[in-house]
Amino acid sequence: MIVLGIESSCDETAAAVVRDGRQVCSSVVASQVAVHHPYGGVVPELASRKHIEAIVPVVDQAIGEAGVDAGAIDGVAVTQGPGLIGSLLVGFSFAKGFAYGHRIPWIGVDHLEAHINSVFLEADPPSFPFVALLVSGGHTSIYHVTSHRDFHPMGQTRDDAAGEAYDKVAKMLGLGYPGGGVIDRLAAQGDPTRIAFTRPFLDRKQFDFSFSGIKSAVMRHLQLHPDPGPEDQAHIAAGFQAAVVEVLTEKIIHAAKAKDCAHLAVVGGVAANQGLRRAITRDAGAAGIQVHIPAIDLCGDNAAMVAVVGYHRLAAGEHSGMDDDVYSRIKFRPA
Ligand code: KG4
Ligand code: ZN
Repeated sequence: MIVLGIESSCDETAAAVVRDGRQVCSSVVASQVAVHHPYGGVVPELASRKHIEAIVPVVDQAIGEAGVDAGAIDGVAVTQGPGLIGSLLVGFSFAKGFAYGHRIPWIGVDHLEAHINSVFLEADPPSFPFVALLVSGGHTSIYHVTSHRDFHPMGQTRDDAAGEAYDKVAKMLGLGYPGGGVIDRLAAQGDPTRIAFTRPFLDRKQFDFSFSGIKSAVMRHLQLHPDPGPEDQAHIAAGFQAAVVEVLTEKIIHAAKAKDCAHLAVVGGVAANQGLRRAITRDAGAAGIQVHIPAIDLCGDNAAMVAVVGYHRLAAGEHSGMDDDVYSRIKFRPA
């Protein structure tokens, strides 16, 4: 089954063609970073307008690069929520129109479920059940995943998401937006032991997170030591990253042990972090737990992961209806 995936929940317009929920034939991501960069964050109205400009060329490019005829597409999967309403509506309305025009089924997909399913695009996917650490700009949660569609929340952040903390620290250091990649590269040049930032484990037996304390600690450090030079910036980035990575690594490994899972997955934009990938691979390996992290370009928002979920739903005979609407907030499922 060939599924066209579409994603427009935030500031990336993405389309992908995926065969049988496993093989990525094409994955196109048009980033709006340059549009939002001057504002230090995503401006929802500008995001919606850019999605409207990008959606047709991005879908055309994805179908073209996949080398398939539009008529060969069996179904469409599109992000339904959570995300920015105006942005979601662009992809969602387009998907409805595309499916109606081609007389094929279509299905709305949850963005978080799509991130979790991104590991199934890897050559060696996890077996169920596994635990998943979802770390992005909007979410930081741990799930017990028992099937492609059943994921039970074990813990989540009580304040900022990890990616949000990265973006805010980068902003404090004057490094621009988004900040995750920049801090990651800078951290590699610094000494992680030079500045010891707080590690908010909360209760070590629980899986909730808190990142606002680390962010405030960086702010206090900058108040006491203003205008750091490049070397000090690198030490701050390294100290901050060490604190975030230690908490994320310890909690997800503890979650795998608590659920007696031999596999764990790390997904979402922050899963691209080199320090995090290294630490989790090392520590989980030592604990005999197999680690699954998508390739870097499947960590951030993309449409291939949306097509994976769509494939499983459409193959089970499900589809959405013309009256279905987008949603902005996370849909919690019973644990
Ligand atoms: O999954 P994503 O593309 O969008 C959301 O659904 O939020 O994640 C974006 C987040 C941003 O906060 C960005 O700074 C962060 O992922 N990010 C990183 C890295 N690359 C992107 N954070 C840490 N290290 C990275 N290498
Ligand atoms: Zn995302």
